[in-house]
Parts: sequence; C-alpha cells; structure tokens
Amino acid sequence: MVYPYQIQSLSDYKKAYQQSVEDPENFWASVANHFTWHKKWDKVLDWNFTDPKIEWFQGATLNITENCLDRHLEKNGNSPAIIWEPNDPNEKPRILTYSKLHEKVCQFAQVLLNNGVKKGDRVCIYMGMIPELAIAVLGCARIGAIHSVIFGGFSAQSIADRVEDAQSEFIITCDGAYRGAKDIPLKNVIDDALIGNKTVKKVIVYTRTRTPISMLKGRDIWWEDEMRHVEEMGIHTIPAVEMNANDPLFILYTSGSTGKPKGVVHACAGYMVYTNYTFVNVFNYQPAQIHFCTADIGWITGHSYIVYGPLSAGASSVMFEGVPTWPNAGRFWDIVDKYQVNILYTAPTAIRSLMGYGLWPLQGKNLSSLKVLGTVGEPINEEAWNWYNEQVGKNKCPIVDTWWQTETGGCLISNIAGITPSKPGWATLPLPGVQPVLVDDKGNEIIEMEEGVYKGNLCIKFPWPSLLTTTYGDHERCRTNYFATYPNLYFTGDGALKDEQGFYRITGRVDDVLNVSGHRIGTAEVENAINMHAGVIESAVVGYPHDVKGQGIYAFIIHNNTESDESLTRKDIIQTVSRVIGPIAKPDKIQFVNGLPKTRSGKIMRRILRKIAEGETENLGDITTLLDPGVVEEIKKGYI
Ligand code: PRX
Repeated sequence: MVYPYQIQSLSDYKKAYQQSVEDPENFWASVANHFTWHKKWDKVLDWNFTDPKIEWFQGATLNITENCLDRHLEKNGNSPAIIWEPNDPNEKPRILTYSKLHEKVCQFAQVLLNNGVKKGDRVCIYMGMIPELAIAVLGCARIGAIHSVIFGGFSAQSIADRVEDAQSEFIITCDGAYRGAKDIPLKNVIDDALIGNKTVKKVIVYTRTRTPISMLKGRDIWWEDEMRHVEEMGIHTIPAVEMNANDPLFILYTSGSTGKPKGVVHACAGYMVYTNYTFVNVFNYQPAQIHFCTADIGWITGHSYIVYGPLSAGASSVMFEGVPTWPNAGRFWDIVDKYQVNILYTAPTAIRSLMGYGLWPLQGKNLSSLKVLGTVGEPINEEAWNWYNEQVGKNKCPIVDTWWQTETGGCLISNIAGITPSKPGWATLPLPGVQPVLVDDKGNEIIEMEEGVYKGNLCIKFPWPSLLTTTYGDHERCRTNYFATYPNLYFTGDGALKDEQGFYRITGRVDDVLNVSGHRIGTAEVENAINMHAGVIESAVVGYPHDVKGQGIYAFIIHNNTESDESLTRKDIIQTVSRVIGPIAKPDKIQFVNGLPKTRSGKIMRRILRKIAEGETENLGDITTLLDPGVVEEIKKGYI
C-alpha cells in the first residue's frame, strides 16, 4: 500500500500543517479520499464546542473492517496482519495473514449474529492478549456492534459497573489469561461481575488456559463450538454492515477527576482516518515493516496502534501476550530479534523498569532491524530517553515521544520519525490538524514567557477527526468534563510548556488524575474504593514521584480502629482497592492520620498533601487558611 498523504520532509510537514489549519476540511477530505467508503460525505465537518457537536464526514457511510481487511486482500492477502507472540516463548507463535484474519473476523461476526447481536448493541470484551481479542474487536465492528474492551487487570466490580453503564447484553471472554508466571482466571471474574445481573444474555468463552470454569446453561457458550458451527455452515466471508460516519465504533472507559470512569465514545469514520494518518506519519511507516506496540488492547494505545491504525495501513502488527520481564528482562529484545521488528512503541515505565536490570538482557540480541522507537503514556525522563536511544536504538533510531489521550483517539503532539526534530522529554510539535493553545486558569492564552518558556494548561482549539464524540449515555458529562472549563476549547487536563521553537513538553495532569505506570487512575476513584473498607472514616489520595512507575499512589487515611499491627490493616485496605478497582490502583504507601488538612469550608488541601508525599516538609505554602494547621505537623511526622 502507498500512502499519498505521507509526510516526506520537514517542508512537507510545514506545508501540511499550514493547510490543515487554513483549510482543515479540504485537508482531511484529501486524506479521507484514500479510504474505502460506501458513500462519500456531504460535509467534512460540522462542529461546535458548546454542545459539543463533533461530526466528521457527515453523510458518509463505511465499515472500518473493509478498510482494515478487505481492501488489502488482493495485493497483501498473504502478508502478516497479526504476528502473535505467546506468553511462553516455547509455545508456537501464530501468524494471521490478512486473508486469514479476514476469514476469522467474518466467521466470528457471524457467531455474533447467530447469537442475536445487532448493530448498535454494546459488547464487553474481557480477554487476554491473544489474536482472538483482535478478532472479537473487529468482529463487532464488522456488524456495527459497539465494542467496549475492559483491560484484563480490572476487578469484577469494575466490570459490573462498565456492563451496567453501557447496558451490555453480551460479553466475550476467555477461561483465563497468561501473564508472565501468572494465570489470571478471567471467566471467574466475569462470573463474579455478573452475580445478580439480569441484562447479560450471552457470554462467549474462548479456551486459552483450560482452567476449570463454570459454564452457565443458556448463557455461557464456547467460542470454539460457535466457530465450528459457522465453519460447518460453509461461511468464510460476510458482508460488512454499512455504518454512518458518526455511528459509534467503540466505547473505552477511562478515569477522570470524579469517582466514576466515563465511557469515551469514538465514531467510525474520523477515528479511522486519524489513526491511520498518524500511524503512517508519526512512525514513518514503510510497507512491509514490522510494527511492535507493546501496549495492551485494553487501553487506547492498543486500539489505535495495534489494531486499527496498523491494519488500516496494511501493516504487520506484533501482538505480545506476556510481560517484558518474563521469563527474563530480555523478552522485548528477543521479540525484536525474532521478528526483525522495525518499529518499537512502548511506555517510559517499561523502559525504566528494563533499565533497572542493567545491560545483560540486551546482550547477544540483534536489534539492527529497528528503525524507529516510540514512547507514550507519560512524560519520559532524560535518563530513560538516553538509555532507549543508546542501548536500544544504538543512536540511529529516531525516538517519537507521542502525546495523546483516550479521548483524542490518536497522537496529537509528537515528532515525526526522521522528519521533524526530537528533543528528549519533549513531545515537540503538533501534528497536522492539531491546534494547541496554552491558557491560564481563567482561560486566557499565555502570551508571556517565564524563564524561557510559555507555561499553562493545554487546550486544543479546533477539532481533529478522532476527537471523542460523546461520553456514553451522558453527553452532558462530555461537555462538563472537556468543553466547559474554558469556553470553545477542548481541555486536556494536562499542563504543558512551550519553548521558543514552538515545541511542547507535557508536564503532567493538572487535575485529580494520576498516571501510574502510564495508566490513568482518578484519585476520587481510589478514595471511593478505600472508603469502602470497614473502619475507614476518610481518605485522601495523591501522587508522588516513583522511580519506575512515574507516579506512585500515596494514601492518607483516617481509620477508627487500626490493629496493633498496622500493617495488617494496610494489607486489608490494599485488598479492598484490588477488589473494587483492580490491582493497578493499589496504593503504594498508606499513612494513617488523625486528621486531613481542610479549609474552613471543608475542602481538603491536596496541594499540601502532595508536597508531603513528595517528601517536602519545609515549603508547604500558605497554611493559614486551614481549619486546624496542627494536623499538618502530625502528618509531616508520620511521612513514610
Ligand atoms: O497526562 C497525559 C499522559 O497520559 C494521559 C492520557 O492517558 P490515557 O488516556 O490513559 O492515554 C494514554 C495513552 C495515549 C495524558 O493526559 N501522556 C500520554 N502521553 C504522554 C503523556 N504525558 C507526557 N508525554 C506523553 N508522550
């Protein structure tokens, strides 16, 4: 496949950027012209940030799976679409060519139809990183069902909340999943999640670990049986359902500053065009290259840069079931060597954790196939950037630092591999179509530099094609979360710096959202979970700098009856959080306190707690507005 919209030089970038700002509609129409549509659009963009209303390619109809699969069959049917590396390196890998993947997706789509799934139905997917996860996602898209993938580390309670919020009647899962040395009993978790549930009609179960599981008559069915049945019917392909451009493609739940995760909705056409455009450009993808994104499909990175972006570009996408440190810390490098990976896209937290093992895991591994390296999910520190550059890229691979979010669908600010300059720790320039602006707390654009940089809250002033269209079932929430803080701007929740060259550096969240190992977790969500534990009266959670995770979770807790061995109460609280949210949200530090620093109006002053959690005891700022400044002294003394 060739990509006529691929940026070839710095001047090309400048031209594309300028056109995308001056004439966004024609700019995106000229990209979109290279996709397969049933009907082209009447209007490229209809928008306002007040409602908000964001509709790209209005009037067009399409199916994203025809763009990810069918259109590659003739020329690239035999090239690998998914290269799957199992958790256990001794197990046989699986390579699904475009033809094979197309067939499996069609057959699974038929399974969904046979079980009563219709266009617009919400299907929750809770699986490990196996090809069937991609098949399930694409199978839903084939028939217009809205997939909601739930990361395999979330608890039964989190699943129940998501199933309920999306009113899902269908679930696709596995008996279990392998992750490093662990077997995770996914189906058991689903069973717990569905206790008392009356809406779920069918649970489709794929056998991966052959763990003993219960199968409820009439509700639970085996993937393999259903697929065999379709095979026996002689079905190898089915037509794709024609979707309106702005029909939802999927929901992905993500944490915000309030307690309840919200279902970010992406629409079919815009998401497709933008993930493809950014995949091809940011990584400077060349036909036949092997792309390895190490994310999990449970997160947006996996959706956009394992599944939809690479497949819509006809690329070969490596999908890895396991973890970077099992059976040893050389696993990524083995995979790069084994499949001659050209593009490696991972998270700073993974780099930092692998750095900690020294250089032996890299010894004897041939990494010479690598052409481009990428990072995503959190700010990358200079030490990790240098290590990645020197030890992995051997100083010859550009590193793209891609800044984006679940809500943005694809990368918004990033250098372009080999084309625009990089600067360690800086995401650098906005991609074509992206118009960032830094504002102060009142929403005024920052026009003065402070110590050589502009510094403010990062907003975007014009839509790009994969901006979220709503939050599922609650459009008002979408408005208040993203479009109400500053009128006529999309507010990212991040703070950023801009230098004299116009490069951006993302400094982290300015709201009550933590970024732990690149995973987004709301402080309110963790507090709600902690508060469910018997004896907890109140809690406040903040982030603190953590060498590997980027941010760790520090919880200050008022408890009415800690045991003489406080560590037991701590363990119980951690267990509670694990059950309510999942192990990813477990606090790293718990400090029991008698009081929290509150203003006279009862608001917790997190600023003070954040400073204490960072180990700062002297410059806590103004504490005179506190109801009881004495609590601060006590908290300082108890710092862990
Ligand atoms: O704070 C930013 C950080 O991750 C947040 C988005 O998290 P999520 O929706 O889970 O998506 C992660 C993968 C796209 C952002 O608000 N973030 C993401 N990428 C970067 C980053 N921070 C700094 N540099 C990045 N490259």
